[in-house]
Amino acid sequence: MWQLLVIGTLVVVVQGRYENINVKQDWWETAVFYQIYPRSFMDSDGDGVGDINGITSRLEYLKELGVDATWLSPIFKSPNHDFGYDISDYYSINPDYGTIEDFEQLLKKAGELNIKVILDFVPNHSSNESDWFIKSSNRDEYYSDWYIWENGHMNDRGQKSPPNNWVSLFSKSAWSYMPSRDQYYLHQFGPSQPDFNYRNPVVVEEMKNIIKFWLEKGVAGMKINAVNHLFEVDKDVYGGRYPNEPITGKPGIGPDDYGFLDHIYTKDQEETYDMVSQLRDVFDAITIRDNLTRVMMSEASTSIKNAVRYYGSGNHAGAHIPFNLALIADLNKNSDARDIKYTIDRWLTYKPLRKQANWVSGNHDKSRVASRFRGELVDAFNMLVLLLPGIAITYMGEEIGMANGFVPWSETRDPRACRTDDPVNFVEVSRDPVRTPFQWSNGKHAGFSNADSTWLPVAEGYEQLNVAAQRSAVRSHYQVYRSLTALRMRPAFRLGRYESLALNSDVYAFKRWYNDDTYVVVMNVGRVYHVVNLTAFDLIFGQLEVEVSSVLSSRTYSDSVQANYLDLAADEALVLRMQV
Ligand code: NOJ
Ligand code: MG
Repeated sequence: MWQLLVIGTLVVVVQGRYENINVKQDWWETAVFYQIYPRSFMDSDGDGVGDINGITSRLEYLKELGVDATWLSPIFKSPNHDFGYDISDYYSINPDYGTIEDFEQLLKKAGELNIKVILDFVPNHSSNESDWFIKSSNRDEYYSDWYIWENGHMNDRGQKSPPNNWVSLFSKSAWSYMPSRDQYYLHQFGPSQPDFNYRNPVVVEEMKNIIKFWLEKGVAGMKINAVNHLFEVDKDVYGGRYPNEPITGKPGIGPDDYGFLDHIYTKDQEETYDMVSQLRDVFDAITIRDNLTRVMMSEASTSIKNAVRYYGSGNHAGAHIPFNLALIADLNKNSDARDIKYTIDRWLTYKPLRKQANWVSGNHDKSRVASRFRGELVDAFNMLVLLLPGIAITYMGEEIGMANGFVPWSETRDPRACRTDDPVNFVEVSRDPVRTPFQWSNGKHAGFSNADSTWLPVAEGYEQLNVAAQRSAVRSHYQVYRSLTALRMRPAFRLGRYESLALNSDVYAFKRWYNDDTYVVVMNVGRVYHVVNLTAFDLIFGQLEVEVSSVLSSRTYSDSVQANYLDLAADEALVLRMQV
């Protein structure tokens, strides 16, 4: 079937200097995707919660940034125990965010601006308030087997206890008791997120229908959330009972912590990959009919070998864009240039040769770049995301270098943090700090809302760090980001080859080139000044010209530098172009 898909490609004609280059590339293959967490982006109706009309009112901002598509964290009906990652009705919009008409309006406006819209789909679990789960809890004939139900186990004291030792990602037992069935249900995430039973074909059909429904509404694709949790082990193989998972023995981890167990029966099950390919068929059917590609993105926090399996193989297509979380998962404050090179090259090595790579530096679950590394490296990370080969994925706020907010226990909303019941250590797991309201201006609530209070507090420092300030500044992260999205239109970045070097333990550099047009992106991620020699790269010599420089760099556009003697200040990052 994949051979047919080439009909969906567009011809990219690059203007001006590159006039002669005519290359077939589908819309998504080198697109910039911008993730919006709707609750925190823009509040249009003054209730302190972001909404769909808020997003629509800011689509021009996305255009200005040079973004091609936006993927929205879930906007479906939800009681908000996990803010949309617990869906109670997959066919309707969360009233907190607006109506279906609002969403249609968003699609219309996005279409006019040529911005594609991708929705976040959560197929692993629904909300415990969904009709499906309620019916299942009451043993309704049709819905009875839609979820994972299991009898309790009698413990030594004759009390009923969970079927086995499985632990939820949000800590404590992954099983909760339901009196109406006198049974336990499985929830790999919070108790309000019961896992679907993927061994029930009716469930699978319903999931395909949901995808179809939204694609027919006009969305350009869906992102499949937590895909590696879809299946649990087949209990029939174990005499009809789900087996305990082995203990990892990692020091300092208690039995309530997810890391206590090795999740060999609840994650990355072999059946998952075929399911992904079945879901992909739904996208492909509509793609072929309309001659316009609908993309499937997928998210799995797993090993690299499992991660790249989501690309599919042979006649089993996988996702177009299996998220590459390596820049988040494999790098931290102590990472140096060698770690950066290794992390990037590792992904490119494991990725199937002809598939597109993608680069994600942040999301609504993980500490922001300015906090995970440091504020001074924001531009360097945006250079990586936007100039490495393939697809760029930016979490809202990373383009202006937003930092994690401080959210006290009393205002904490994240279910993962709340479930710790620990007013001190909750900060280690809370995801609220990366979900604080978007910083538009130095106005009330950073221009996010005119309510008296917002669902999460605005992060400190917004008076200086906001879109309006960075828009009017000559040099800012925002300006750098825009220069980078413009630059990535050039063939060297869209189509060109990639080669990288750790010039020393602090300086990472990569080269991108297409025909005679050659660039070197170089970044000093260390704390001290360095002089480096870029002629270590093949065919780099003479003078190079600055295309983009990080905010604190002393260099500006069109400055010349010497290939064999380049002095770089701590944190300085540059995009250079070879002079011919
Ligand atoms: C992954 C999502 O990114 C996260 O925010 C959510 O809590 C879990 N999946 C459960 O759906
Ligand atoms: Mg609102």
